[in-house]
Amino acid sequence: MNTTVRSAGSTPALKPGRRAVFTELGEDPDEALDRFLRIEEQPAPDPARCGPNEVIVRIESSAVSWIDLVMASGQYQHRCHPPYIPGVEYSGIVEWAGSAVDRFCPGDRVLSDFIAAGPRAKTAYQGAGGFAGYAVLPASALCRIPDGLDFDQAANLLASYETAYHCIIARGRVQAGETVLIHGASGASGLAAVQVCRMLGARVIATGRSDEKLEIVRSHGADHVINTRGDDYPSGVRSFREEVKALTDGRGVDVVYDAVGGDVSLESLRCVAFGARFLIVGWTSTPNVADGKGRRGAPRANQLPTNLIQMKGLTVMGCPAVITVERSPELREPRKALVLQWAAEGRIKPYVSQVFPISRAREALRARWQAGTVGGIALHPWED
Ligand SMILES: NC(=O)c1ccc[n+]([C@@H]2O[C@H](COP(=O)([O-])OP(=O)(O)OC[C@H]3O[C@@H](n4cnc5c(N)ncnc54)[C@H](OP(=O)(O)O)[C@@H]3O)[C@@H](O)[C@H]2O)c1
Repeated sequence: MNTTVRSAGSTPALKPGRRAVFTELGEDPDEALDRFLRIEEQPAPDPARCGPNEVIVRIESSAVSWIDLVMASGQYQHRCHPPYIPGVEYSGIVEWAGSAVDRFCPGDRVLSDFIAAGPRAKTAYQGAGGFAGYAVLPASALCRIPDGLDFDQAANLLASYETAYHCIIARGRVQAGETVLIHGASGASGLAAVQVCRMLGARVIATGRSDEKLEIVRSHGADHVINTRGDDYPSGVRSFREEVKALTDGRGVDVVYDAVGGDVSLESLRCVAFGARFLIVGWTSTPNVADGKGRRGAPRANQLPTNLIQMKGLTVMGCPAVITVERSPELREPRKALVLQWAAEGRIKPYVSQVFPISRAREALRARWQAGTVGGIALHPWED
């Protein structure tokens, strides 16, 4: 339910909200969740203290992302300094807009740009995280929600689909008719990659560790699914190379989208076509490559065998979606615009499988960390 009657030019009387705050970085995400996540009252922002280019957004939904977890232990490449509010991207309603803002009016449905504001941003608006009732951010850090998306879908749009775009299209140059092996396909970015491959006319072989989750991945466009879970194997990953080879007439896949790392990566190198592209997206199976508490360095870094890379003539590509646009800012706006356009045209649609009230923020983050979910998770800051 809305807290105010909104009208352009008026100064709304906003009631206080609540916010979740990480008060310290953990040794690992579990410690950060157990010891350093606090829910507290959030005073309502005062428009009189906001700038002419700023907007007050009442947050309706925040994404709950993997990045929120690894950032809470300082194991992510980009650091937040506690206390800070998690919630990398979010959506909501404009409550108030400064005098210089001409793009938005009170009542508009908006989503945040995670590179311009919120904990993933390297701007003065890093403090405007989504696990809160309100955010104050510049109008330039907001986009209109494409028609057809609800608040939960809008909050789970840009980061995952821009990642999928960057990996599959900008780096992987995936073509219609090619076969792509997607690891971590049930994840937020993995499921986006499945949809993007499907949109391009590529064939998708999706992997994961749960038949139930893989069926949902299939319903989002995967042509084949493979459960890699191997309880009898020391690594927990069973051999799946023969299945992939059988599905590709012995040839192997053209592209690997690897968000999982570890033994899943190694096994993949045995079922790629000669000259395949191997896209490094993330390493959910080995999240502790870096020390916690924000110490720098990666003492347990992942490794790939150079002999297999050589013999298969592979092109291995790092695919960091945010770092790339920090270095080449001109790539960002067209990429973001394309994702918003795809969403407006109904060609992509984030799948949100779970919603949590802010009082259960810890549980929401834990669900993401323990992979107990498919696609996006949403947190509602005004619900108990
Ligand atoms: N390159 C980039 O710019 C970029 C951008 C965003 C994210 N990422 C990275 O990509 C990875 C995935 O991000 P996401 O947002 O999609 O995360 P996510 O939604 O949490 O999904 C991760 C998926 O990985 C699988 N997984 C989790 N733990 C695993 C384990 N121990 N062993 C094997 N599989 C495991 C799970 O699938 P199953 O349970 O089905 O196996 C889960 O659905 C992360 O490492 C993240 O940092 C990279």
